[in-house]
Amino acid sequence: MNTAAPTPDWQSADGSVQLYCADCREILPRLTPASVDMVVTDPPYGHRNNDDDLIARREVALGWFDSFARPRPIANDGPEANEMFRATLPMLSRLLRDGCCCCCCCCCGGGPDPQFARWSLWMDEVFDFKQMVVWDKGPMGMGWHYRRSYETVLVAKKRGGPCRWHADSADIENIIRPGSGGIRKIIPTAKEHPTPKPPELAAHFMKLHTIGGDVVLDPFSGAGWVGVAAARLGRRFIGIEIDRRWFDLAVHRISSALLECPGQLFYGPGAGPPAARSDKLPFAAGSE
Ligand SMILES: C[S@@+](CC[C@H](N)C(=O)[O-])C[C@H]1O[C@@H](n2cnc3c(N)ncnc32)[C@H](O)[C@@H]1O
Repeated sequence: MNTAAPTPDWQSADGSVQLYCADCREILPRLTPASVDMVVTDPPYGHRNNDDDLIARREVALGWFDSFARPRPIANDGPEANEMFRATLPMLSRLLRDGCCCCCCCCCGGGPDPQFARWSLWMDEVFDFKQMVVWDKGPMGMGWHYRRSYETVLVAKKRGGPCRWHADSADIENIIRPGSGGIRKIIPTAKEHPTPKPPELAAHFMKLHTIGGDVVLDPFSGAGWVGVAAARLGRRFIGIEIDRRWFDLAVHRISSALLECPGQLFYGPGAGPPAARSDKLPFAAGSE
């Protein structure tokens, strides 16, 4: 196995964002242990999304397909998704500092497969499971009986040390409610990632568990929703995405977010960069 420090396929001019177009199982073991302050991610659920499912059939019915916009199944989104997710958990634990959190999106309340239950138990084997947060996505989603209107986000903490918690308010619920202050879902167009998450969802958790300059990792980074949130909030970011199409889109979106928020690099709004965190990302090849 290659154990050399990996070279990012793209990084921002200031080095605060590094992206890899690769299988995360190849990259994660080669990153520096205990160097990440938070994981926020949305792995494939194993539902074969956009592979002749309701979403794909809706896009066909709407006549959305042209030469670009063909069905775009997600890599590793069959039964293999479960073992892939489980295999990455110890890799993520190795990278997190003590007390830091892993926030993992985990589908929309089940259906025939109680995936949220299985994934929660697997996370608890490696981390200290903390909470299952319900994100109410607003308008009713697809389905038949019990139409999908929420998603779960599983939150677990690296063992050792108290949970890092930076909320200003004591009123943080385990539900993200719709309406004012709520977070609306994104309905993708045929040229976008088929399962887009709003950057505001990643930002919600980042504000609770990190401060400016902290390092956030997404091993299944898709089109860069977590990286966009990190750029907006002045967190550093490492993303890994296996599919070149979504990697390229992530580069574009994160670059734009960095241009829009240059003053916030390394700083949360109102927070200065602690000296220990104004260093470079520790993962560039040859940095160890
Ligand atoms: C559910 S999608 C995440 C989409 C994301 N929420 C967004 O808004 O773009 C999961 C992503 O993981 C990627 N993926 C699947 N297996 C992977 C692997 N072994 N390493 C890295 N990325 C992988 C897929 O290509 C897909 O883009």
